[in-house]
Amino acid sequence: MTKDIPRFAFIIHPIDPREDVRRRYPWLAKVLPEGWIHYLSGLWPPLKLSDIEGVESRATGERIRGWLLACPLTPQRMRTSTLDFVYRKIIQTGRLAERLGAQIVGLGAWTAAIGDAGETVARALRIPVTTGDSYTVAVALEQLRRAARTLAVTPWEGATVAVVGATGAIGRAAADILADEVERVLLIGRRPRLLAQVEAALNARPRRATVKATTDLQRLAEAAFILSATTAGRAIIHPQHLRPGAVVLDVALPRDVSLRVSRQRDDVLVLDGGIVQVPGPVDFHFNFGLPRKLAYACMAETMILTLERRFECYTIGRNIPADKVHEIARLGAYHGFEVAPLMSLGRRVRSTQWERVRAAARQAHAA
Ligand SMILES: NC(=O)c1ccc[n+]([C@@H]2O[C@H](COP(=O)([O-])OP(=O)(O)OC[C@H]3O[C@@H](n4cnc5c(N)ncnc54)[C@H](OP(=O)(O)O)[C@@H]3O)[C@@H](O)[C@H]2O)c1
Repeated sequence: MTKDIPRFAFIIHPIDPREDVRRRYPWLAKVLPEGWIHYLSGLWPPLKLSDIEGVESRATGERIRGWLLACPLTPQRMRTSTLDFVYRKIIQTGRLAERLGAQIVGLGAWTAAIGDAGETVARALRIPVTTGDSYTVAVALEQLRRAARTLAVTPWEGATVAVVGATGAIGRAAADILADEVERVLLIGRRPRLLAQVEAALNARPRRATVKATTDLQRLAEAAFILSATTAGRAIIHPQHLRPGAVVLDVALPRDVSLRVSRQRDDVLVLDGGIVQVPGPVDFHFNFGLPRKLAYACMAETMILTLERRFECYTIGRNIPADKVHEIARLGAYHGFEVAPLMSLGRRVRSTQWERVRAAARQAHAA
């Protein structure tokens, strides 16, 4: 290995346990009950899934290399285990990154969200750690703005946007930026005290938007645009929650939005959140469920920092300043990362879908 090629590792974990086992061990997925997969995921050691090649900056032409690593715990196993046990598994996976020669390691999905959102893991490792949440917020907001431009029913500045999981790292940072862009921001969460703290913090200085908090998911019906980023681990947004013409950006992994929404409501659009196109002839040598050359924004943050040779704990914890979100968006654009074409359940949104949702949004707006 040439030592001066910047190197990174990124940690993922099973999101859809049966499907993830099937991809690697098709025979095992057929015979193993799901409860066993959760249980066994705690006994499995961390492992290297693949080499990542061909990430190349469009600005400098520099290439980097990386590794995709698995922390084998399923979301359910993380939720039902002690925090110490989960930290230990993530740290073990981080040590594997160190042994491979990575200079920074990114935490994917729940490995970033669990406990103190990367702080304990970062303290335990010799290489810096980043959760990728800053770039995820940047990309998610750009996806929503793009959806608003494509629908062209109301100007973005006049929109009501709901954020589900507003007390979380991604939700709070997204709401903070939205409060300076749109007309109304509805913060939705489940713990009234924490939610009130976020509401007070966002309203501590004058904002363009009216910012209000609620624990009532029924109030989603007030929003034309919704960003959902919780760690519920199951569907919490259902067909009856949404108004005609609504656009829901589901950033959560596993998804927050019930599959019934896409099946039963052709007057709303559910978009896959936080997906980007990676510059260069990238090959992940592993199918993590996205079309070729596409990656989750949290993975891309680690790549961007590696291209910049900024080997630092860039995003850690739940308090993400807007400056970081704007900075990583700028660096990503400089190196050639782009928000992917808008997709719903893994497929590019068709013009007929846009037309149906536009018509419904126009009616709702007029009413
Ligand atoms: N697409 C991407 O590129 C990408 C990148 C990074 C992360 N993600 C995903 O984004 C999601 C959020 O990540 P994060 O780092 O912001 O996590 P986080 O900081 O832990 O925040 C999680 C949020 O979910 C809420 N929540 C947890 N359980 C819930 C339930 N049963 N019902 C309703 N709300 C619930 C929490 O509320 P409380 O405060 O009340 O606990 C909190 O607001 C995760 O699913 C993660 O996998 C996606």
